[in-house]
Amino acid sequence: MPELSFILFVLKMVGSKEGREMLHAVREVERYAVWKMRQVLEESGADREMERRPFHGFPDPSFAKLIGDIMEAEGLARWEADRLKWLRDAGEPPPVTNRYVVSFKPVIDRVYATLPDSLVSGERFMARSSAEAESRAVFGRFLDNLGYNRVRELVVKWASIPPGSLVVDVGAGIGLSSITILRLVPGSRVIAVDPYQPNLEVTRSYAEVLGLGDRLEVRLGRGEEVHKVVKNADFAVMINILHWCSDPLTVLNAVREVAPKALLAQGVLDVKLNLALAPLAYLLGSSLPPTMEQLIDWIKIAGWRIEKQMRHPVPTFILKAQKTSSK
Ligand SMILES: C[S@@+](CC[C@H](N)C(=O)[O-])C[C@H]1O[C@@H](n2cnc3c(N)ncnc32)[C@H](O)[C@@H]1O
Repeated sequence: MPELSFILFVLKMVGSKEGREMLHAVREVERYAVWKMRQVLEESGADREMERRPFHGFPDPSFAKLIGDIMEAEGLARWEADRLKWLRDAGEPPPVTNRYVVSFKPVIDRVYATLPDSLVSGERFMARSSAEAESRAVFGRFLDNLGYNRVRELVVKWASIPPGSLVVDVGAGIGLSSITILRLVPGSRVIAVDPYQPNLEVTRSYAEVLGLGDRLEVRLGRGEEVHKVVKNADFAVMINILHWCSDPLTVLNAVREVAPKALLAQGVLDVKLNLALAPLAYLLGSSLPPTMEQLIDWIKIAGWRIEKQMRHPVPTFILKAQKTSSK
């Protein structure tokens, strides 16, 4: 049963023209991305390979399993023990009419064209290539247009971060999460931490343009070492970063050294939202998102207690530090 906050969120979306357009875009992009995956697998013959080989016989079994699970969820295939049995071909491409999806479609086409080779060889040809920085940027902008900003607003409001808090935004990206905190938490100050200097520069100039620059500081650093660049914040915020970090458990541990409370919003494999795009982010260099079970394990092992949680539209937690800092 979805939580009340999520029902209100959906009602708000359905109640506005812009919200309805976003929901329409989500449906369109999911349909198109699934079609594209099926089509490239079919065209390359990798689909037959998925019938011949069990998913654990692929170089990256979790990735092969994810692709199979998406195909099964869409009624295109079904698992027979650990092998995929195809039920349908891709057929005709679904229409793409929404302006956001139209602008994002070339990235889907480019990235998913590499899917069969990546599946079979285990190599991610586009990950971390500087030539793909633009694809990553288009992807980020697409997610924003698609309501990712609404999700950020929802989770930051839901977190009830006390006014005047010093907040560390871990993996701040281009600052959209930091800006949301500065706007929604009165008197807050934010330290935005990200491992990529260009991201921090965008964050800084964006906050200045909005007149929020005097409450923002930016610091270069990885989440795994956030305790080296920030001491004693009141609250930490992590919005969709763990699958971009090489060591999520260490990130959760390091964040606990820095703040007694945290807001964690993290896409997981078993909540369907944007699952059709998880392989795309993966081919561009992210890890696969964790399962809900794995995420909860990480949280506990890293010494956090879950104070409050909601499952939709993205699994979100308020965490309270259990272990005392070893500093
Ligand atoms: C999906 S973006 C989320 C950005 C931001 N929190 C937001 O809500 O828009 C993921 C971010 O994680 C950052 N990142 C990658 N590796 C990281 C690491 N090891 N520690 C912290 N952040 C990392 C990337 O630079 C990127 O900005």
